[in-house]
Amino acid sequence: MKNLKRVAVSDPVLQILEQNEPSTIYVTRPTLPDLDAFIPYLRKIWHSKILTNGGPFHQELEQRLCETLGVKHIALFANCTIGLVTALQALRISGEVITTPYSFVATANSLLWNGIKPVFVDIDPVTFNLDPAKIEAAITPQTTAIMPVHCYGHPCDVNAIQSIADSYGLKVIYDAAHAFGVRCESGSILNYGDLSVLSFHATKVFTTFEGGAIICPDEKTRQRINFLKNFGYADEVTVVAPGINGKMSEFNAALGLLQLQGFDESLAKRKAIDARYRAGLAGVAGIKCMEASGETVSNYAYFPILVQPNYPLSRDSLYRKFRDNNIHVRRYFYPLISEFSMYRGLPSAAPPNLSVARQISQQVICLPIYPDLRADQVDRILRLI
Ligand SMILES: Cc1ncc(COP(=O)(O)O)c(C=O)c1O
Repeated sequence: MKNLKRVAVSDPVLQILEQNEPSTIYVTRPTLPDLDAFIPYLRKIWHSKILTNGGPFHQELEQRLCETLGVKHIALFANCTIGLVTALQALRISGEVITTPYSFVATANSLLWNGIKPVFVDIDPVTFNLDPAKIEAAITPQTTAIMPVHCYGHPCDVNAIQSIADSYGLKVIYDAAHAFGVRCESGSILNYGDLSVLSFHATKVFTTFEGGAIICPDEKTRQRINFLKNFGYADEVTVVAPGINGKMSEFNAALGLLQLQGFDESLAKRKAIDARYRAGLAGVAGIKCMEASGETVSNYAYFPILVQPNYPLSRDSLYRKFRDNNIHVRRYFYPLISEFSMYRGLPSAAPPNLSVARQISQQVICLPIYPDLRADQVDRILRLI
């Protein structure tokens, strides 16, 4: 970084690098493989000149992900958002879909991109996921599906949600953007519902820079999804649906293969950070750590805390204190999706309907967690709290 400062930079990328203060701690930072280890993969791409359209790295990554995650059928995507939009298309979802306001805005945006009306239902105060006890009251003759989120990688109450879906003939599409590698008693959490959609964005526990995937129950559904992510092409001369371009490139797929090699080590480091935070915060009045919610294998993707009324500072004062100390914690998820302008007019967005989500959204702070976060940095964060 010091060398960069001596260069008279007109290069915008270098200018951005210069602005990154070395002492700043971000809420997350990607773990990248050794650059030298990536060169042989790039050589293969340069040699074959196969850059995209389901090339060899794409096929290999799909296979490796099935093994690693414990799922049977997977379709890679350019990102999770296009995956969500395509999942809704694949199941021909229309009308109204029940979803959570406590998520990243892409969850509900994928509904609007399909002309579907989101119906927000409040969340459970322990899991921060869609509260199954409140779903039935929101079902109308127009409801066709439920789109829950495994928020922070903590599993939804998948059995309760499935039983409601079965009673009313609804589809279930999980936004599993946070749930890479998460398992419950029966295996991968990604095997629940009709489809689950992962994100491999730079901020996620497994990243291909940008990327995502849909977990499918069978090969026929996967094939339809593959048509849809490739403009609807079934073969050279046949377009079966108004598809989109959702394909992952060979560059991203090759990177994914390399990233998988370091995943277990990354997870172990995340687990140690999670434990250090929990030990350090155990006696702090007014700070509540979120507990696991039924997973047998966690991915330690996030470390949310709630700043409760008996803490001496308000949530936003603590947030500003962090910022003043160059610690970029984030208030995920504040504001709620239902508070954004394109959603706040919906009847289900009315604040009394979403009182639990509102309270958590006003108390939450996600602390930094990523494999290379050092113990002394965790201690610096703990001292500030
Ligand atoms: C819950 C959730 N859904 C969807 C997305 C969108 O994922 P992507 O950036 O891969 O499109 C994200 C975050 O990036 C997310 O946190």
